[in-house]
Amino acid sequence: MSARHFLSLMDCTPQELSSLIRRAIELKDLRHRGVPYEPLKSRVLGMIFEKASTRTRLSFEAGMIQLGGQAIFLSPRDTQLGRGEPISDCAIVMSRMLDAVMIRTFAHSKLVEFAANSRVPVINGLSDDLHPCQLLADMQTFQEHRGAIQGKTVAWIGDGNNMCNTYIEAAIQFDFRLNVACPEGFEPNPAFLAQAGDRVQVMRDPREAVRGAHLVSTDVWTSMGQEEETARRLALFKPYQVNQALLALADEAVIFMHCLPAHRGEEISMDLLDDPRSVAWDQAENRLHAQKALLELLVEHASRA
Ligand code: CP
Ligand code: NVA
Repeated sequence: MSARHFLSLMDCTPQELSSLIRRAIELKDLRHRGVPYEPLKSRVLGMIFEKASTRTRLSFEAGMIQLGGQAIFLSPRDTQLGRGEPISDCAIVMSRMLDAVMIRTFAHSKLVEFAANSRVPVINGLSDDLHPCQLLADMQTFQEHRGAIQGKTVAWIGDGNNMCNTYIEAAIQFDFRLNVACPEGFEPNPAFLAQAGDRVQVMRDPREAVRGAHLVSTDVWTSMGQEEETARRLALFKPYQVNQALLALADEAVIFMHCLPAHRGEEISMDLLDDPRSVAWDQAENRLHAQKALLELLVEHASRA
């Protein structure tokens, strides 16, 4: 199948990722100036959600509408996917009717299998391993607030989860240093770490990780699908809360990001999203603009191929 997919940041070159971020900023400006831009007229995005979502669903759905197309929400509860129809069969059929498919799922292998059988672009809207669309928004947000991230230091505090793995890929693609501070047993996937070499350091002490950091980022301690581990995680992750005292140890121009949803009082202090150093609301908005740039690249590219 010749379609171009976006399952990971590694599916683009560093140059393509930089262009996507530039384009996202342009599309944001067009939208803020009220200039219509509808290159995807009559194009349809299918969105398969096997996990809950606010931002991902809204940003893809609104983004498609703003680009002149449409998006269809597909829940496994109401489709044959949830009743055991093989993924490969679903991919063949859906991709004959749609112009792109976004999938939020558990096992990353499901995305890979769907993509292998799809004739249209498949986009990872979050898997247990990766959340690349979120990183497009994060990188756009850093660029807007502080300029190029190349050569800067980023601290990831908390769980070595799908977001942390994606930060590792971003460190490679956008060329920054990444300090990961996590409790023992909650390290990021070793396969991602191995790719990154010495630009990523895993440490135990969050204070050491934030030293000199220009960006501090965190995420929930219990990701979707891990709910039965909540109590154990709450106890183990307690020393990893990002709060004013921790941010005070970072670079004086540090900014703070959280992909949201946030649990105030757990991975962040009650006040952190209101701190002037937090850019979480811009980061959430940028999901819209960054994914519009991505849809433009993948869907327009597919129509020209
Ligand atoms: N950050 C993010 O992906 O949010 P949702 O789970 O609301 O889509
Ligand atoms: N790590 C979180 C991210 C949510 C956007 C999860 O997978 O639930």
